Amino acid sequence: MTTTKSATVQYRSQFGLIGLVLLVGLLSACGSDSSNGPILIKFPHVTAPGTPKGLAADRFKMLVEERMPGIVTVEVYPSGQLMNDDDSIDALAFGEVQMIAVSLSKLDRLTKKYQVFDLPFLFVDLAAAERFQSGPAREELLGAVLKSGIRGVGFWHNGMKQFGGPVPITSPEAAEGLKFRIMESDVLQAQILQMGGNPQKMAFGEVYQALQTGAVDAQENTWANTYSSKFYEVQPYLTESNHGYLGYLLAVNEPFWQSLPEDVRQQLQVIIDEVSAWGNDQAKEVNAGALANIIESGRSEIARLNDGERKVWADTMLPVWDTFSDSIGEDLLNAALAAGQQ
Ligand code: SIN
Repeated sequence: MTTTKSATVQYRSQFGLIGLVLLVGLLSACGSDSSNGPILIKFPHVTAPGTPKGLAADRFKMLVEERMPGIVTVEVYPSGQLMNDDDSIDALAFGEVQMIAVSLSKLDRLTKKYQVFDLPFLFVDLAAAERFQSGPAREELLGAVLKSGIRGVGFWHNGMKQFGGPVPITSPEAAEGLKFRIMESDVLQAQILQMGGNPQKMAFGEVYQALQTGAVDAQENTWANTYSSKFYEVQPYLTESNHGYLGYLLAVNEPFWQSLPEDVRQQLQVIIDEVSAWGNDQAKEVNAGALANIIESGRSEIARLNDGERKVWADTMLPVWDTFSDSIGEDLLNAALAAGQQ
């Protein structure tokens, strides 16, 4: 693994991800063949098994192995035990793993289209994000990173993001001067700068320690991630801001996907659609359960935004929308707005 990964990194630094993907396409043109045993889908992800993504990944494995015994095997590696998200994007493009479910924010280096998901206060809730993802823009969104050898096959929710830090972050001013951990996204960077904070892009697996040691003061995440990764133990205040959406592109390596026998690919897509609907139904409940557990722990105080505070936040964030509207594209932004604000 180490040798292959360093070869990937070396090739990527010389030729870029797209050149790498073309090479991989040639190398894997011989295709998947189950005559030597089941087709293997390696599926690494960074969250805990009980999170919305962890539950959906485990259900995908269960249904595939139940319905396609001896034909397809799925190995799920949760909690970042195999690799972090950034490495998993390269590993997927290179064909070292076959499936990932990575935060849409972290694909910022491959497409500007997913920036729409990070615009603060655009999607009012998970149902709004779902309307956008399943509406007329669906195919364009799923295909947005195909040029990098990555095919989107579904969208999975985690939840709405909340702020956490050393003070209640009920107004943008409260965030002034705080060092915020963010995902690898330029929109999130602009969001924190607009609040007067200091954004630091950092892998998910490093966040707990960074909060504990004071390397960062604050962060934004869902209740499910805040609870399962114990961020609430090292943040005195959590603010129920619901200011942004955290969701995933469920994606496969394109040469691998095309090399599958037609009937296998179709059966997998049926299971993917079923698991996506099931997982997305669970997400709201999982986040509500995580919030209840955090409250019960008594470790963090929970602040809530009233309508007036929410309006101040949304108005303050409008320049962030202006900055990214051109790179996202007018049609996509309008489709998101039509779905997001209903
Ligand atoms: C995830 O939910 O997959 C990780 C999100 C993060 O990096 O904060």
